Amino acid sequence: MKEKIAALLNEQVTKEFYSAYLYLAITNWFDENGLTGFAGWYKKQAEEEQEHAMKIVEYLHDNGQAVVLGALDAPRPELQSAKDAVSAALDHERYITASIETIYAAALEENDYRTQVFLQWFISEQGEEEKNAEEMLSKVTRYGEHPMGLYNLDKEAGSR
Ligand code: FEO
Repeated sequence: MKEKIAALLNEQVTKEFYSAYLYLAITNWFDENGLTGFAGWYKKQAEEEQEHAMKIVEYLHDNGQAVVLGALDAPRPELQSAKDAVSAALDHERYITASIETIYAAALEENDYRTQVFLQWFISEQGEEEKNAEEMLSKVTRYGEHPMGLYNLDKEAGSR
């Protein structure tokens, strides 16, 4: 594996762990504001992000590469409402999609076919994650202003 690809994948490990950390911050905000259904949803997201990071760790090791863990920034999303929290999640997923696409473009450039195949799972997953986040934001925007609407959305999120 080319050094450049290994470096980008290593950075992605940190980004995925940061995603988990950000989702934990969002989980905490929902919990602290009595929206335990949403909290459960984002807690599961946080767990999934750790799985994403570990997939990349294993891929690096399977290809004889060292894993260099980066420092995690403290997530400080500015949250005043459920809509802010859901928007923060969507913005972050879009950022992660762009990051995965950057690695894919580098793998194309370097003729690294194995990494291209490996990243296909992440590309599909990002499509799914963005779709879910967009749907969530659309519902919270439409119905989240009313206490009863938000209550029902929280129940729905909790049934995940
Ligand atoms: Fe692993 Fe939600 O990006």
